[in-house]
Amino acid sequence: MSTRVHRRTLLAGFAAVPVIGLLGCDQDRTTAAPISTVGTLDFGNPLVIPPLTTGTVIGGVRTFALRAGPSATEFLPGRTTATWAYSDGRSPARYLGPTLRAQRGEQVRVIVRNDLADSTTVHWHGMHLPARYDGGPHQPIKPGATWSPQWSIEQPAATLWYHPHPHGQTEGQVNRGLAGLFYLEDGSDPDLPHRYGVDDVPLILQDRRFDAAGQFDLNGHAVTGYVGDTILVNGTYNPHLRVTTRRVRLRILNGSSARIYHLAFADNRAFALTGTDAGHLPAPRRIRDLLLSPAERAEIVVDVTAGDRAVLRSIPWNLNMAAPLTDGAGGNDHLDLLQLRADHRLNPSRALPASLTSAASPDTTNVAAERTFVLDGRQINGRPMDMTRIDTVVGAGTCELWTVHNAHNQPHNFHIHGVSFQILPPPASRPDPTLGWKDTVLLAAGETATLAIGFPSYTDARNPYMYHCHLLWHEDEGMMAQFTVVEPGQIATAPRVIPDPHQHG
Ligand code: C2O
Ligand code: CU
Ligand code: CU
Repeated sequence: MSTRVHRRTLLAGFAAVPVIGLLGCDQDRTTAAPISTVGTLDFGNPLVIPPLTTGTVIGGVRTFALRAGPSATEFLPGRTTATWAYSDGRSPARYLGPTLRAQRGEQVRVIVRNDLADSTTVHWHGMHLPARYDGGPHQPIKPGATWSPQWSIEQPAATLWYHPHPHGQTEGQVNRGLAGLFYLEDGSDPDLPHRYGVDDVPLILQDRRFDAAGQFDLNGHAVTGYVGDTILVNGTYNPHLRVTTRRVRLRILNGSSARIYHLAFADNRAFALTGTDAGHLPAPRRIRDLLLSPAERAEIVVDVTAGDRAVLRSIPWNLNMAAPLTDGAGGNDHLDLLQLRADHRLNPSRALPASLTSAASPDTTNVAAERTFVLDGRQINGRPMDMTRIDTVVGAGTCELWTVHNAHNQPHNFHIHGVSFQILPPPASRPDPTLGWKDTVLLAAGETATLAIGFPSYTDARNPYMYHCHLLWHEDEGMMAQFTVVEPGQIATAPRVIPDPHQHG
């Protein structure tokens, strides 16, 4: 099925929004001038906290309900924006979705119903699970249909997320509002602030443009993809977070399509980095800035004083592109994201533990294969995504080293489904989320990273996992490839061609 057909389907199914913005097609926004929102926001809106759900235990299985459907959200005062959202059927659908929470060792099941007019999928980003439940482009959920994957949680505590992954349509669906968090907990969680929405607060960072009618303007791409001029945090415009404790833990997700955030506080205060995409760091690390590309997560703990006003900001970062293209991609923007507004009397918080996790590094003494992946244009190793082609076959339970080289004059990142990896050696030149367990890594133009990956024991020769650039437009344009995991003895005979789910139901 061609991209053209997908775009038409998308337009037809999106009748709730004025057509004005959609007809303009893809305006060129490669070189828009840098923007600054510093000093323009009063942080008047309380930060929205996505509802937390632990589902219902049915027959020993923690069961969640999730419905994807149209919704309406007031972001800007007096304006209602047509959005899409996930709901758990208890709280009304607004924008984004509930935070799901489960424990290591549990069986979980999610009953996903598609109430949209378009086909969608739900991908559990960062989750180690069988490929047929991964929710990638091979598991489409048709309008009106239900999909109920079930798996067991076998990985350390982490802040994961879920989002649609339909072939060629991911950016549009995520931009309309489909994304949510999936928290995993572990019996051996370190003693970090842990009261959801109080001293343990999710921050989903997204950028959007609004048209004159207050609707999302989702047209136009920089070379990196969709870049907006208005920041929403958990779908809140102009937000502040009331802080009632001396320390607050922020779980930050870059939920944007293309924007790369270089985060720092306006007063340049230090904070502790405690976790990255797929788990805690061995020990907290004091830093003053951090870089997050789309889909990456970071957990930080910030100290505040009574009456404090601390502004989290995104500041320029060199994307290693020609200056006008960097401007267009937002690389020279100054954006105020959120004000931490501390009470005048604060409740005490415990000191940060000296050690956070004992999670081992991948065993690189026994590497089953070393592979190289070259990112260029919108292709990986010179080929665009093909749903029927298996690009790589790996052995279950083995460790491999993947060297990813960005040979292109634009930034990309690299995400692998179903696994966590570590970067060898962690790049010294970078503010820190390159440490610890990761599932997504940023590669500026010309950069190379070697990833040590432990593959899961789930085998399935016919259902692939994806690896791809997580700049959503690049991904939609085909910067993606597929791997299967099979018994090590069956690598040579595993199929390299599989049916396309869109043709075979
Ligand atoms: Cu966040 Cu292929 O996904
Ligand atoms: Cu993923
Ligand atoms: Cu890319």
